[in-house]
Amino acid sequence: MSDAGNSDDGSRGADRERTFVMAKPDAVQRGLIGEIVSRLESRGLKLVGGKVTRIDRDLAEEHYAEHTDKPFFEDLVGFITSGPVFAMVWEGADATRQVREMMGATDPAEAVPGTIRGDFALDLGRNVVHGSDTEPGSNEREVSLFFDDEELVDYERIDETWLYE
Ligand code: RTP
Ligand code: MG
Repeated sequence: MSDAGNSDDGSRGADRERTFVMAKPDAVQRGLIGEIVSRLESRGLKLVGGKVTRIDRDLAEEHYAEHTDKPFFEDLVGFITSGPVFAMVWEGADATRQVREMMGATDPAEAVPGTIRGDFALDLGRNVVHGSDTEPGSNEREVSLFFDDEELVDYERIDETWLYE
């Protein structure tokens, strides 16, 4: 399939990237999936994959491997496996960093109003949203942990010519 707006080699332009985002179990239970999707969508980011899924312990340990030795690791794994999540892949210019900015500080008590955590959360252990960190390769690692290639869809949004110069 040819994809207008994407170059032949499958790249999405030097500054367009994909990043992994997840509405955590608290967001699903609190009916905040739509709010999270809406904010990212309105910003101009493009949803290229999404599914409601349950994270099992193995996946949780792999996803949060960087925190294995932290004192909060068990609580974190327990929470993220406690109910369904909504896993997503978003694409756009500088997507990883922009999503992180829109999520706000890890601790909602420190997150400024206007950010997702600053508007919808109060507690560090219930901070409603996950986004890949900006460490090089983190986004790609997480996307491939949660999605097979065929679950991600290349397409052009009709407003892209108005979103990008
Ligand atoms: P996330 O990975 O969930 O998107 O959050 P993040 O990058 O903003 O924060 P990170 O440092 O990766 O921490 C992962 C999750 O662990 C919980 N946490 N608890 N008790 C603590 O000191 C502590 N620190 C972090 C948070 O729920 C955080 O989202
Ligand atoms: Mg993190």
